[in-house]
This record gives sequence, structure tokens and C-alpha cells, in this order.
Amino acid sequence: MKINEKNTAITVNSLNLWYGDNHSLKDVSIDIHNNQITAIIGASGCGKSSFLRCLNRMNDLIDNIKIDGEIIIKNKNIYDKDVDECAVRKYVGMVFQQPNPFPKSIYNNVAYAPIKHLMVKKGSACDDLVEESLQKANLWDEVKDKLHSPGTALSGGQQQRLCIARTIAIKPNIILMDEPTSALDPISTEKIEALMLELKQEYTIIIVTHNMQQASRVADYTVFFHLGDLVEYDKTKNIFLNPHQQQTEDYITGRFG
Ligand SMILES: Nc1ncnc2c1ncn2[C@@H]1O[C@H](COP(=O)(O)OP(=O)(O)O)[C@@H](O)[C@H]1O
Ligand SMILES: [Mg+2]
Repeated sequence: MKINEKNTAITVNSLNLWYGDNHSLKDVSIDIHNNQITAIIGASGCGKSSFLRCLNRMNDLIDNIKIDGEIIIKNKNIYDKDVDECAVRKYVGMVFQQPNPFPKSIYNNVAYAPIKHLMVKKGSACDDLVEESLQKANLWDEVKDKLHSPGTALSGGQQQRLCIARTIAIKPNIILMDEPTSALDPISTEKIEALMLELKQEYTIIIVTHNMQQASRVADYTVFFHLGDLVEYDKTKNIFLNPHQQQTEDYITGRFG
């Protein structure tokens, strides 16, 4: 077992997921490395988002879902009965495809969860946390003079960095990103990619992407899924330059998917 290795952030053992009769993740096992970017690629419907949502128990609310197997984070299976799923979601933050700021000010988008979780009180400690989080998300300089205007008034790329700031503010260790740039223009995409490379110093990042160039630009490791199976997992350069599985090669060369 590698779960005690310092460089493993998440160990997934024999994860299976069904939506009703639809067996959507099939016996997936993987160790995700700490402080690295891991990209998940594969054709639409192969289970990428379902897999990502298992990692912070975001699937719990879906009706008629069955999940078995283990996901071990900090030596504990997050599906054990005594685990508080809110604590899991605090440790494992998530950024979605569509930037989804709350209908609140920029400041309150970042401050809302830390105040709710009693991590800070309103006032200067909160101001500091808001600034630090916006700085880390490379957004501070663009918004410092308009912290009280609505988050939704920012551009799409800024909104996505605001969502990243909001995620960082609750001090997660792991950040999941489900196609975080697919709704953004190329310049905003480049900014988010540069940001991910900075953030991996401090966080473990797992990103689902449709864009294979993006995976090869940012990811240290890449996972290829096909119809619910984890087909191949390796250093990104091996996946793209020297894949071992025919299905991986077919996908990355555009022969299907
Ligand atoms: N909430 C849901 N309820 C029922 N089926 C779902 C749900 N979400 C995803 N699925 C099904 O699970 C499979 C994997 O979907 P998904 O994880 O969204 O794939 P991807 O993100 O790779 O496109 C698909 O067959 C999809 O239709
Ligand atoms: Mg998806």
C-alpha cells in the first residue's frame, strides 16, 4: 500500500459507481500525487466528472446512485460512515466549468464560506484573508478598487479566478477543477493555466479537460478514461508520446472520441 507515502494525496481502491443500472465507473484504482497537477482526459460520457465528484463526495446528493470502493485521504476512507462530508468538501475544494460566483460582492464571494465555517470573524482578519485569497488567484490587482461590486459583473475569466479565490479561502489541500477553462477565451485560459502552475506548489490539483493541449501544457500526470474504465495513467509526456494502450493512442491521435 502506498497510502502512507508522503507524496500520495489520494488513494482510490476499486471504485465502482452506478447511476441506476448504468455502471459508470468500473473498478478504478489510482494513487494521485501530492503537489502535482493530474489531468483526466477521455471522450464525453466516459466518467470524468463522475470520478472527480467522488473525490469530494459531491455525488452524495444524486438519487439512485451507488458507490463502492475506497477513497483514502489522510489515511481515512472518506466514505466511512463517521466521516463528515462537509469536512471532506472543505479539504477537497472544487471549481466548475461555468464560472458560478454567488450573487454577492467580490469581497463577499470570498468571505462567505470562511465566515460561515467560523474560520474568521468579520473585520481585519477577514479583510486579510480576502486579500490573500485574491492575490493567490492572481485577481487582486484587477479588483482591489471594486471589492464591493458584484462578482457577476466581472468578465468570465475573472469570474473563474474569483471562484478559485473562493475555493482557496477555505484552505483546502486538494482542488478539483472540472473543465475550468472550456467556457473561457484563449487569454483567460492562459491565465488560469499559469495560475494552476503556481498553485501546485501549495495544492494538489486534479483537472478534467477536453483539451489535450491543455493537459500536455499543465499536467504532470494524465489519466485516460474510456467508458468508465481507467485505461492508462502515467506521466503526461508518456501518455502523449509513448502510450502503452491502443485505446489511449487511438484517443490522443483523434481516431475516436
Ligand atoms: N446525475 C446523473 N444521473 C444519471 N446518470 C448520470 C449522471 N451524471 C452522469 N451520468 C452518466 O454517467 C456517465 C458518465 O458521465 P460523466 O461522468 O458526466 O462523464 P464525462 O464527464 O466524462 O462526460 C454517462 O453515461 C452519463 O450519462
Ligand atoms: Mg464532464
